[in-house]
Amino acid sequence: MCMDDAAPNMGNPQQGYTRLVFSSPIGRIGTGVPNTEMEQLKQLDANTVMMMGDNPALPPMTERPTLIDFFKYRFESITRRHLLGSAKRALDAGQDEKIIMACLLHDISNGCFIRADHGYWSAQMIAPYVSEEVAWAVQYHQALRYVADPDVGYAYPESYHKFFGKDYKIPNYIQEDAAYARQHKWYMTARQVTLNDLYFFDDTTDHDPEELADVIGRNFRQPVEGLGFDRSPVAHMWRTMIWPNNFL
Ligand SMILES: [Fe+2]
Ligand SMILES: [Fe+2]
Repeated sequence: MCMDDAAPNMGNPQQGYTRLVFSSPIGRIGTGVPNTEMEQLKQLDANTVMMMGDNPALPPMTERPTLIDFFKYRFESITRRHLLGSAKRALDAGQDEKIIMACLLHDISNGCFIRADHGYWSAQMIAPYVSEEVAWAVQYHQALRYVADPDVGYAYPESYHKFFGKDYKIPNYIQEDAAYARQHKWYMTARQVTLNDLYFFDDTTDHDPEELADVIGRNFRQPVEGLGFDRSPVAHMWRTMIWPNNFL
């Protein structure tokens, strides 16, 4: 196919077909939800295919997706409210814009991507578009959430007792990363993320991401081609969020 004939970034390249959706193993293994791959492959025929491209069950994405577009059209409500609420809290407290950005992005991988090791995934997703310090703070907020710092009024979160149980033992890699972060020059940037981190149990307001548009404009290098299409080392992560149900 020459580039002139290339399919547009967005759309349904399988018009007229019945399209089967297969779930990604990362969200299914261990959950008891059965793997349907073999049954679905048996259903394939001249009219039935595995889904590629836009899923009509999701809002259409813009042609050149921006960070705000992902907040509007992909992220699930609980993460969107959590991120915007944390960023608004930092904004209202008069925090530096790097703190506001780190708060806005700290759990971004939970929006519609991957939960496990979310600080590390989130940092990687945003690294080409934010300052090194913001990405660092996003990565290390995950470990620092587990470690109290009475000097700045940060205690182990009550929500973590609920999430993990009272006797939960923090894994070694988290303890080691927290100790490393504690002596780093950017420690307080990551610590501020944990201080502005709202509990998921809090009933947070659903802010409009456009309220943060100016801060985002000054601190997020939005690629002109759109997130997912700028050939950055993380473009595939954003494409996966645009088309989370692509078979391959
Ligand atoms: Fe987090
Ligand atoms: Fe959080």
